Amino acid sequence: MLTVEQLYNKLKDIRVGNPCCQFTEERCKTFLPVIERIEQLKREKNAIILAHNYVPPQILYGVADHTGDSYGLAKKALESDAEVIVFTAVRFMAETAKIVNPGKMVLDPNPDGGCTLADGITAADVKRLREEFPDHTFVCYINTTAEVKANCDVCVTSSNVYTIMERIETDKIYFLPDRLMGENVKNFLRDKGAGKQVDVYDGTCYVHEEYQPESVDQVRRNFPGVKVLVHPECSPGVVGKADYVGSTSGMLDYVRESDNDSFFLLTECGLTGVLESEFPRKQFVGTCTTCRYMKANSLEHILSTLENPAPSNIIELDPEIQKNALRCVDKMFSYLKN
Ligand code: 13P
Ligand code: SF4
Repeated sequence: MLTVEQLYNKLKDIRVGNPCCQFTEERCKTFLPVIERIEQLKREKNAIILAHNYVPPQILYGVADHTGDSYGLAKKALESDAEVIVFTAVRFMAETAKIVNPGKMVLDPNPDGGCTLADGITAADVKRLREEFPDHTFVCYINTTAEVKANCDVCVTSSNVYTIMERIETDKIYFLPDRLMGENVKNFLRDKGAGKQVDVYDGTCYVHEEYQPESVDQVRRNFPGVKVLVHPECSPGVVGKADYVGSTSGMLDYVRESDNDSFFLLTECGLTGVLESEFPRKQFVGTCTTCRYMKANSLEHILSTLENPAPSNIIELDPEIQKNALRCVDKMFSYLKN
């Protein structure tokens, strides 16, 4: 069983926005009763908890069985033999776990966990676009609803978007919903000399679209030698200045393998917290921006969902949508074999 000391050791190096809210042993003590109750329910119900890198760190280090990016967690959901999967992140990620596990109970403790990308496009939009672009292969980012996935051909995540877009056989692709990621992939394919026509939808992530290329220049001036790590949801101007572009778990691996000692991350600051905890001797510079949807997750919501899930906590999908969305997600896995 996790002790206060163990939890405090994991959380003490994480810098939080307001220094008055820094994790203390006293604060960790208040988490323990909820954590112990969650652990007991996990055993009783044969449940596991999957947590995205952006959720509050007391969840990541207190109760999560697996943490990671959207691709890694979708794979964990697929491989799991637990009867119940609690997915603490945002709705589309919990839905993806249900798409690949139709026979299991998938619980979402944060049912109002939106995402400006996933909420910015509907299945009706995709149907209309398919009429407008009848010869295109429709590629959706994982940050979409199950209904949208069900109407697309291939799903991608930030960890594999470049690889899959390059491997798609057809030369006309419609990429949705992230315009900035779409522009980044277009630039990548152009640089590779791949003669593909890529049309993109006009969605954005409200967190990543805010980052400006000038901030990267300023940080490089102030911290000579800093490595700049960027999520592909950022603008091409920002991506063009990066030392590394990849998913949240890709950034974590980059830091783990790097000899450098200072890094600037342009992504939601939950990941910076994880890195501060994992690599306390390395320096993570820059400001912190949070995703309000990811930060709405809490230990209390996980506990009440495991204890007595409300209908909104239980992911249910229409069988036809489930089947078609699975075809779209399976296509992603098949592009990544070999
Ligand atoms: P990752 O798949 O890289 O974790 O990103 C998901 C996301 O929502 C980024 O904003
Ligand atoms: Fe969606 Fe952006 Fe939040 Fe990721 S950070 S869940 S893309 S709103």
